[in-house]
Amino acid sequence: MSDSSKQPLSALYPFDIQACPSPAYVVDDALLKRNLELLAQVQADSGARILLALKGFAMWHTFPLVSQYLAGTTASGQDEARLGAETFGGEVHVYSPGFTVSEMDEVLRYADHISFNSPGQWRRFRDQVMQSARQPSCGLRVNPEHSTGQVALYDPCAVGSRLGTRAQDLSAADMDGLEGLHFHTLCEQNSDALEATLAAFEAKFGGYLDSLKWVNFGGGHHITRPDYDIDRLVRVIRDFKRRYPHLAVYLEPGEAIALNTGFLVCSVLDIVENDGPIAILDTSATAHMPDVLEMPYRPEIIGAGHPGEKAYSYRLGGMTCLAGDVIGDYAFDQPLQIGDRLVFTDMAHYTMVKTTTFNGIRLPSICRVEEDSRAVHTVRTFGYVDYMQRLS
Ligand SMILES: Cc1ncc(COP(=O)(O)O)c(C=O)c1O
Repeated sequence: MSDSSKQPLSALYPFDIQACPSPAYVVDDALLKRNLELLAQVQADSGARILLALKGFAMWHTFPLVSQYLAGTTASGQDEARLGAETFGGEVHVYSPGFTVSEMDEVLRYADHISFNSPGQWRRFRDQVMQSARQPSCGLRVNPEHSTGQVALYDPCAVGSRLGTRAQDLSAADMDGLEGLHFHTLCEQNSDALEATLAAFEAKFGGYLDSLKWVNFGGGHHITRPDYDIDRLVRVIRDFKRRYPHLAVYLEPGEAIALNTGFLVCSVLDIVENDGPIAILDTSATAHMPDVLEMPYRPEIIGAGHPGEKAYSYRLGGMTCLAGDVIGDYAFDQPLQIGDRLVFTDMAHYTMVKTTTFNGIRLPSICRVEEDSRAVHTVRTFGYVDYMQRLS
């Protein structure tokens, strides 16, 4: 028997799981602050500026806290740019594989930095940018063609990638008017992958760096993961800044800001039988935690193990019509009962930002746990109107 099975399940929960609606994403301020303090230390030690990638975590209710630690936000287009400007403050950076003319008008109201995906996009928008009131600093996303990840779906350096310009497709004339270079090639990786990528980047694009003002090392740095080599990250950035003292260095992680800071609390609605018990939950893999199917991966549940590790095994499934809306197989010390609450861990990033209302199922409420009192506050609930307004 594991140690955890000897204590009541409630002792394993970091907050009162009955104090929120079900289902609900619950972000713990204490855990978020721990990540932010570490990221602030990285900024101080390395001299790099760290931006929050809103695509990964955009729970703006936390931004009065998050913005105390980070330099600003990075957006994938007009609406994230506006959200960053209006709810976070600091620097607003924007990159998109392709901007439209009307979107650029909106982006230019908020952006301090814009990274274009190709020389063609820069040529198309150059006059519009030059005539704008804000005069953002513009750069180009490049492709260092150095793959360090295993999964093609998450590899912008994969053969045939549309993300970033390759060195062979770039000339000095293309860089006219641009002040920075941007590369994003990592996904949940350690600093050895950054070090190798930076070497490839410098080998291919080093000739452009003297005349620039900044380089953005993208996201995918898993800085707040326990085994992340922070010393190496700081050394890599400091060495780069020693070689290019005139360049500002940016990192723009999303996941690392909210890693291991949030939970998805849900409830058992029914238990059915088909070659073993299947629990139907009031949540959904496809609608509420789509990375479970997309990555794919098996999220952890507090107090649960793999089948066979504990006495009672269940397949856990969602409440949509999708046959594959299955979260995984889990084992528990006690049989599940209808109405039991379950708590999935690490549910703050790439969840709230990716939900759908498929089947008209409601979005999980959004809650926060206060750092010291541990009080749980519900900051947002969703209803029929949220579903209806996405359609016409
Ligand atoms: C251009 C860019 N920057 C930053 C990020 C954030 O990455 P992560 O959340 O893995 O740190 C992404 C993620 O896809 C990205 O595409």
